[in-house]
Amino acid sequence: MYCEDKFREVYGREPETSFSPYRIAPLGAHIDHQFGCIHGLALNYGVHMAYGIKQNGIIELQSLNFPKRVQFHVNDVPEEKSGDWGDYLRGVTKELGKKYRLKYGIAGVIRGALPSGGISSSAALTICYLRAVAQANGIELEDNDYIYMSKKAENDYVGVSTGKLDQSCETLCRKGKLLALDCLDDSYENVAPGPDMPDYRIGIFFSGVPRSLANSAYNSRVDECKAAAFALYAYDHGDLDMGLKFKDMYLRMVPEGTFKEYGVRLPHDWQKRARHYYTEMDRVKRGLECWKNGDLAGYGKLVNESGMSSIVNYECGSPELIKLYDILSKLDGVYGCRFSGAGFKGCCMALLDPAKVDMIREVVEKEYLAEFPDMLGKYKAYICETADGVGKAK
Ligand code: GLA
Repeated sequence: MYCEDKFREVYGREPETSFSPYRIAPLGAHIDHQFGCIHGLALNYGVHMAYGIKQNGIIELQSLNFPKRVQFHVNDVPEEKSGDWGDYLRGVTKELGKKYRLKYGIAGVIRGALPSGGISSSAALTICYLRAVAQANGIELEDNDYIYMSKKAENDYVGVSTGKLDQSCETLCRKGKLLALDCLDDSYENVAPGPDMPDYRIGIFFSGVPRSLANSAYNSRVDECKAAAFALYAYDHGDLDMGLKFKDMYLRMVPEGTFKEYGVRLPHDWQKRARHYYTEMDRVKRGLECWKNGDLAGYGKLVNESGMSSIVNYECGSPELIKLYDILSKLDGVYGCRFSGAGFKGCCMALLDPAKVDMIREVVEKEYLAEFPDMLGKYKAYICETADGVGKAK
């Protein structure tokens, strides 16, 4: 059922609507929180919302995907999170209320078009919702409002130390173009592919293992990167008492040459996290050239290498995701693939030759379920195209 139909059934009137796409980041995985550079594409699937304004300031929402109705007042958001999907909404309402005066609430129904995990459904949920509450209150949001309010909600209210990759892609991307964003200074371009670039589709292959960033090792990986940055910076400056705070350290502060010189002194795990960062920065740079030259094969090769670095250096992934990566990376018609998003559970994304999509779906399903039969009914594959982000330039 669509959320519009459910809204009509429950509220007996026509709804307003809001939408935010999901995203993939073919290159730049796990370096946004270190203020690195990323690539992103928004998908033509996402989170939809059908809603109406509530004069009394109450937010009253139900999801077609998750149990439990969410209810709170726009100006009285609980300080403590509840541990359910409503936390994203509560957190972002708090952020919105810090900058703009809120008076009206909304009542409505939310629906995610695809399963969650790896395509940033959490940012899509907050962005879609933010757009609706802003509209209800007559607020014109800037792109950066979407990005920073959603990120802050996730960091401070939900408690996951994400960077701004997800929110930026879902806000700034443009159909058919690759978002190239520098997370240090927020400069970005939406880059058209070179004229001879072959057509492609985006395959999303859900492992069937549900994802939860908050419960995963996501935050500890971020800390390992920061620890590597802190140590490398100190080695380079010959001083451990630099007056710098751990929380303010990130790998972009440390030139690659410093890693090459002092990296061997780092504990093995920190060394590997830093290696992922520097090699991924390089892949993002080379990938952009491939994209601009229409060299999808070259771009895809870098995506495969990025996927391998996530397995070997960043050590995210799970047996299920690694199996999907193994199957996809060897298949004819797959330009490149890697885990999508946090990469602990969730899904693999792949850039596919449209002519081979059916064969690819068949082989992946067969080989994956042969290894993980319990995932029958949970494993799902979708073929997507690119889309615009939610941003006001629409
Ligand atoms: C999650 C986070 C992002 C980013 C990716 C990995 O989606 O929310 O900030 O770190 O993982 O690239």
